[in-house]
Amino acid sequence: MPTAPIGPRNNPINRLGTPLSPSATRVMLLGAGELGKEVIIALQRLGIETIAVDRYADAPGMQVAHRSHVVAMTDGPALRALIEKEAPQLVVPEIEAIATDMLLEIERDGLAEVIPTARATRLTMNREGIRRLAAEELGLPTSPYAFADSLAALQATIDDGQGGGIGYPCLVKPTMSSSGKGQSLLRGPDDVVPAWDCAMQGGRVSQSRVIVEGFIDFDYEITLLTVRAVGASGDVETYFCEPVGHLQINGDYVESWQPQAMSEAALEKSRAIARAVTENLGGRGLFGVELFIKGDQVWFSEVSPRPHDTGLVTLASQRFSEFELHARAILGLPVDVSLRAPGASAVIYGGVDARALAFAGVAEALSVPGSDLRLFGKPESFKKRRMGVAVATGVDTEEARGRARLAASRVRPVLA
Ligand SMILES: Nc1ncnc2c1ncn2[C@@H]1O[C@H](COP(=O)(O)OP(=O)(O)OP(=O)(O)O)[C@@H](O)[C@H]1O
Ligand SMILES: [Mg+2]
Repeated sequence: MPTAPIGPRNNPINRLGTPLSPSATRVMLLGAGELGKEVIIALQRLGIETIAVDRYADAPGMQVAHRSHVVAMTDGPALRALIEKEAPQLVVPEIEAIATDMLLEIERDGLAEVIPTARATRLTMNREGIRRLAAEELGLPTSPYAFADSLAALQATIDDGQGGGIGYPCLVKPTMSSSGKGQSLLRGPDDVVPAWDCAMQGGRVSQSRVIVEGFIDFDYEITLLTVRAVGASGDVETYFCEPVGHLQINGDYVESWQPQAMSEAALEKSRAIARAVTENLGGRGLFGVELFIKGDQVWFSEVSPRPHDTGLVTLASQRFSEFELHARAILGLPVDVSLRAPGASAVIYGGVDARALAFAGVAEALSVPGSDLRLFGKPESFKKRRMGVAVATGVDTEEARGRARLAASRVRPVLA
């Protein structure tokens, strides 16, 4: 697919300005969690004026941005008013739950460039949009799937009896949800009603559409961090980081490592799939392409048009982290996706429901060789809320994983 030069919408970023001055290059992050925080830090280092937006005060990214705003990002008019007021050159979504129809308008009206494109944010916020694009338009291998709007329709969709049903085991997920919310694994007919109820409670917005996916019995799963950045040719080119392997529990990532060992054939197929999806979505920036692998077989699962949580490992393992790569790519700067050392990450959960947690054991954690830590500074903790992450390098991913796990286990959230 031919690629466009930067600044297709009258906003060529051909120089970087001085923040808080008339020459400033302004970037607005929609969503200011731990991933956005790292993107903002990377932008700050390049002298970008940063504006963090989230739905609650003191979000991690707000603590490192020039300015911040508390706004419901699903409120289209409020979002537009804020973008008109702040006049950023780039609008960078960090989360899925955004009024993406308004982003389409903002892009169309030339108010700002949406990263990577408004269409990409709209398609990927809904499992139906991205699944139909990948499977039906691009012909990529995915799990068998169907959609249902009611319990009865869900039951009919799964039923083998009529031939062509998805059957068991299968997964049911709200079409609008993330981080495993509202998802169930169904092993038999008794699981259908609980799965429907779970999906209705876990969806992001009040809508009752679910996707049913056949269960893929994969050997392992990866995130292929794929960067669309301006290359030496002056056009947007595609770059692949080393594959990130990860472990998910209840749809939430707990550990990741890089590089994941893969067969040549599986790696080649993974890259071809990632290239096809990201070229279709277009724009500039880093994408997290989620893939399932069994032997040499590869299935596309989903894609984030932004840094991916499992990519936190790159804070240790790559010359430039996925956040720095995203910052460079969106600004039209060159990228270097090279690995520095085998690495791993391990999540630190809050473990309790409380405000203003404290963390004990930090010195002990950081005494693990090759380790480092991020504590996100979230104002409120929940038992299963990600409050920090330990990262580590090692001679291989086994050593790195052991170190990251050990460091994470030494950090103890305590009530202040
Ligand atoms: N069809 C499937 N077959 C087997 N395992 C699956 C399937 N779909 C999902 N999973 C497992 O559940 C995890 C979460 O699924 P998925 O990525 O669709 O959910 P999500 O809510 O978007 O999660 P996240 O936001 O963390 O990426 C996957 O990483 C994988 O481990
Ligand atoms: Mg996922």
